[in-house]
Amino acid sequence: MKILGIAGSPRAGGNTEVLLGDLLAGAADEGAETEAVFLRTCAIHSCTGCERCRTDLTCTRFYDSMHLLSPKIEAADGLIVGSPTYNYNITPEMKAFIDRLYPYYRFSEARPGPWSSYFAGLGKKALVFTVAEQHDLAERGFAVEAMQRPLEALGFEVTETLHAEGYFAKGAVAKDPAMRERARTIGRRFARR
Ligand SMILES: Cc1cc2nc3c(=O)[nH]c(=O)nc-3n(C[C@H](O)[C@H](O)[C@H](O)COP(=O)(O)O)c2cc1C
Repeated sequence: MKILGIAGSPRAGGNTEVLLGDLLAGAADEGAETEAVFLRTCAIHSCTGCERCRTDLTCTRFYDSMHLLSPKIEAADGLIVGSPTYNYNITPEMKAFIDRLYPYYRFSEARPGPWSSYFAGLGKKALVFTVAEQHDLAERGFAVEAMQRPLEALGFEVTETLHAEGYFAKGAVAKDPAMRERARTIGRRFARR
C-alpha cells in the first residue's frame, strides 16, 4: 500500500507538518510505503478555467509542480491531505492544489451536466485533517469540508477526518503527546482499512 501525504501550510515545521509526520508514521507502522509532500515547496499555478484539460486530460496550460505530483497521486492507494485553517477555510496553497485536480474529472458534453472522475471505482481512499487555533466550532470554519467534498467528488472515499484545535504557535502540537499519539493511531487505522 502506498500512502501519499500532502501538507498545505506555508509555514515550514508548523503544526500541519508535525501531524502529517505522525499520521504517516502510523501508516508506516502498518507496513505502508509513505511519502510526504509540502505544497510550500511546490509551484502550483491557480487553475484559470481554460478547460483545455477536458480534451487534453492533463493540464497543458501550466508546466509546473502539478506534473510532478500527478504520477504520485495516481500511484497512491491513499492520500492524507492536511491544511491549517486560514480564515475559516483552507490555505491558498491547498486550494490551488485541489483546483488543479480538475483534469481528473470526466465531464459530459452538456454543461451543466453530469460528471465522473478518473479515480471513480478505483478504491482510492483519503484522510483529511486540519489544524486551527480556535476551539469554537463557528470560528474554526469549514476547512475539513473544503478538502473532503472535492476529494469525494473526485472518487476518493474519505474514511477518516481529524480536526486538531487549540494550536496556534509554530509547532505547538509537537508538545502535545496525546494529540500526536492520536494522530499516529488514526494513521494506523487509515492504512488498515
Ligand atoms: C492568515 C491566518 C488565518 C487564520 N485563520 C484562522 C481561523 O479562521 N480559525 C482558527 O481557528 N485559526 C486560524 N488561524 C490559526 C492557524 O490555523 C493556526 O496557527 C495553525 O496551527 C497553523 O498551522 P501551521 O502551523 O501548520 O501553519 C489562522 C492563521 C493565519 C496565519
